[in-house]
Formats: sequence, structure tokens, C-alpha cells
Amino acid sequence: MALHEIHVTINGEPEQVAVPANMTLMRMLREKLALTGTKNGCSAGECGACTVLLNGEPVNSCMVLAVECDGARIVTVEGLASEERLAPVQEAILRQGGVQCGFCTPGILISAHALLQRNPNPGEDEIREALVGNLCRCTGYVRIIESVKEAARMQSAAG
Ligand code: FES
Ligand code: FES
Repeated sequence: MALHEIHVTINGEPEQVAVPANMTLMRMLREKLALTGTKNGCSAGECGACTVLLNGEPVNSCMVLAVECDGARIVTVEGLASEERLAPVQEAILRQGGVQCGFCTPGILISAHALLQRNPNPGEDEIREALVGNLCRCTGYVRIIESVKEAARMQSAAG
């Protein structure tokens, strides 16, 4: 199949990638760029394990074609931490015990990070709504919700 050259910014770095027309953004990240933090749970838009930010909005990357992303800004779980420290939601989920098998965790972190960027002080209902597309088979969600609350407190304490 013919390849298409696309230009994207991934985690702040410009990338040029050659992709077949039928390759999803999820497969491009994992197979072309070795960014395997983005997980393949269902390949059908159901589980949220593949969530990334596309131009600032959380999307299921298994439902987006890579060729549609020409010129886009993409942030994956690998891009949440700075060189010095984890993002607040990453620190909080570790402290709160919100990770068990960890398969859902990258997608949860991206969705939670996006929520906290648009609403630094979300209520529990807003947190649950933001994570409704992210399925977790292990934790029962309580510790994940507590993690997002703690991350919001950390962010507001940091000003
Ligand atoms: S792998 Fe994309 S939603 Fe499940
Ligand atoms: S921690 Fe295992 S699926 Fe969420």
C-alpha cells in the first residue's frame, strides 16, 4: 500500500512519519514511533486505553486515521511528565493506589489531565463524566477518582 508522509508534533517534538492510508493513530504511535504507553485494548472505540490528546482534546486514537492527523499536535502519556517531575495526576495516582494491572492507566491519565486543564477544580460528577469512556477492570474507580481530586488539590496549592 502506498505510504503518505505526514507531519505531526508529538509530545512537543516535530515528527515526519510515512503511514499507509488505513493505519490508525494508535498503530502509528505504537508501531512507527515506539510510543507503547498508548494501549490497544479493544481497537473499537470502547475502552479508552488508547486515549491521547489530539489538538488538546482527548480522543480514542484507535478511531482516528493517522493521515487525518497531518499538522496536528498530539500528546501521549509519555508526554505528560516533564524531565524533572511527573504530572500531578501521575503523582496522585501512584500515591492513591489507583493503578493495579495498569493497562487502563495511560488512557485514564490523559483523560484526567485534559479535565484538569479545562477545569482545575472539578466535582466528583465531572470527574466521573470525564472518565466515562475509560474502562478499568481492576480498581473499582474509587482510587482513580480520589487521584484526580488529589491532583486538583496539588495543582491549586502550586498556584
Ligand atoms: S483501544 Fe481504542 S478505545 Fe479501546
Ligand atoms: S488497573 Fe487494570 S484495567 Fe485498570
